[in-house]
Amino acid sequence: MGDGGGNRSMTTPPSSRRVTTSATAILSSSFVLIYALVLVTQFAMMGIVSDRANVSTGGHHATIPNAMSGWTKTRRGGGIGGSSRRTVGGARSSSTTTTTTIELAAMASSIAGRWNLTTHNAVALLLRQFDRVDDYSYRTDFVHFHHLYKSGGTSISNLMDKAFGGLIDGGILPGSYESGNFDHDEALADIERRMSTGTSREDLPYVASYAHTGLRPVYGPRGTRTGTFLLKQLPHRRLRVITMLRDIVDFRASNHAMIMCGLNYEVTRWNNEREASGLSRVCTPRDGLNISLMVDRKIGDLMERCRAEKEMLAGGVTPKKKLYPQQRRQCAGEEAGTDTLAHCRSADHLLASPQYDKHYRSMFHALMGRFHRGQKFTNVTAYKGMGYGFDRAEDSPGYSVEKVEEYTLEDLGGLDTTISGAGDGVGPPEPDFVWFGITERMKESTVLFYYQFRLKPLPRTPIHRVQECRPNSWWTDENREVVKAREPADYAVWRAANAIMDVRIEKMKMEIRSLLRAGETRESLYYVDWDQLEEMGVKL
Ligand SMILES: *[C@@H]1O[C@H](CO)[C@@H](O)[C@H](O)[C@H]1NC(C)=O
Ligand SMILES: *[C@@H]1O[C@H](CO)[C@@H](O)[C@H](O)[C@H]1NC(C)=O
Ligand SMILES: *[C@@H]1O[C@H](CO)[C@@H](O)[C@H](O)[C@H]1NC(C)=O
Ligand SMILES: *[C@@H]1O[C@H](CO)[C@@H](O)[C@H](O)[C@H]1NC(C)=O
Repeated sequence: MGDGGGNRSMTTPPSSRRVTTSATAILSSSFVLIYALVLVTQFAMMGIVSDRANVSTGGHHATIPNAMSGWTKTRRGGGIGGSSRRTVGGARSSSTTTTTTIELAAMASSIAGRWNLTTHNAVALLLRQFDRVDDYSYRTDFVHFHHLYKSGGTSISNLMDKAFGGLIDGGILPGSYESGNFDHDEALADIERRMSTGTSREDLPYVASYAHTGLRPVYGPRGTRTGTFLLKQLPHRRLRVITMLRDIVDFRASNHAMIMCGLNYEVTRWNNEREASGLSRVCTPRDGLNISLMVDRKIGDLMERCRAEKEMLAGGVTPKKKLYPQQRRQCAGEEAGTDTLAHCRSADHLLASPQYDKHYRSMFHALMGRFHRGQKFTNVTAYKGMGYGFDRAEDSPGYSVEKVEEYTLEDLGGLDTTISGAGDGVGPPEPDFVWFGITERMKESTVLFYYQFRLKPLPRTPIHRVQECRPNSWWTDENREVVKAREPADYAVWRAANAIMDVRIEKMKMEIRSLLRAGETRESLYYVDWDQLEEMGVKL
């Protein structure tokens, strides 16, 4: 346990003891000093920490008086409304912002354990996350939000509208859609309109865009349309990317219910009818909701529309709204005795269906563009309908769970600027991830969003399209286990992402504490979402 000063005084010089004691409050209760010493010994041998702190492991003595100041000083004041005023003065910080590398290592190790990370360098990469230099600036950068279907991205798009768009008039590039693909023509029209009225390219106001459309890879033979477009139109801006990811089962449950099968619509309709006849609204099979029955209704309705259309056409009448060929084929299939929506009837049905292989394998492929370095980048990133067409990451040459964890920690974690669609380290660097959110950790995600971009928190995070019935309540524990077993690559991405987020939350807390100690106030730290932090139970 990290309590008491007895053991630690052995490892900490008197000058920083007071500080170290307060910093231990940050640590999770599973801090084991001996283990931390072993870790630090290992890192020292691996040369990981020795370049930023002096580590002497002889006689179990580790002295890192100023390990933290390295990153408290690296936050540049480049963000919106930012200035170098917020950087912590060196002399002052050395006595007030110290957390020892031992403590950081223990924290990283505990986080790696929490998310079952198995790659040998997980702790080292999480430590690098603590040290990551934040060089985002709205003056020089352009951020694209790649919104995967059903990942909570509508809320983020709205938040970007208000937070970025509200601060910089015209800051959001037109063509951005909260639930659509990026409209390049609309963007181009706006750019041309502004430039024809005297705005120079360098003075175009755009700082961000959002859409279901992916940006990566910008370079190389697989360059995306959006990447190519932005390179051409905003050549003076550094492209960065942000995204959201989600628990891999909830992600599939939501795509299944809402994109693939349209079940939420049916459930709401059914509940409205229940309510009209004095019954309560229900959401789970336990309470009497039968998804299969919803599918029957859906098919019944479609059959009725097919019949009506046939009748009209036979009578020489042109229907106002024609059915799609696909819908007619579905009717024909049903008439021939095929259950065309069998995969919609339950999670079990989906998991047993070829539809799963077609659409639900390695759904995070588009997130970074690949899962590990051995894999080629794909530009199948703009979701259109259900045609993801992703192969199983597990079948790619060089794949292992560890490689995916490692790659996620580096790439999604924003640690590697050598990644390029035109060849790692050879081509120009791809847009790096400056932020990502996790749907089921929305509070932490938005707190980190404001903090990262130096934006004033909105009074309330816009929550859009939150469904009354959560589709994951139709999925059993066994269903969840099946998905986890089938999707080790997606699961590794999600676990590593959670570990990165844990580090970022800890890092943010430490930074805020040190800034407060250095004389900043709650008011001057306007980009800290104090209310949400309080709701999260964070004391600063
Ligand atoms: C470590 O300490 C020694 C002497 O105390 C000093 O000469 C050296 O520059 C330090 N190394 C680092 C990386 O700070
Ligand atoms: C980590 O592994 C343990 C043991 O297998 C398991 O109970 C736990 O759910 C796993 N946690 C995560 C985040 O995968
Ligand atoms: C992917 O790359 C091909 C070949 O360069 C290009 O034709 C296509 O438009 C790209 N797709 C997307 C979604 O950007
Ligand atoms: C759910 O509906 C299907 C019809 O699609 C029916 O066969 C099944 O018995 C129903 N299940 C329950 C538990 O009522």
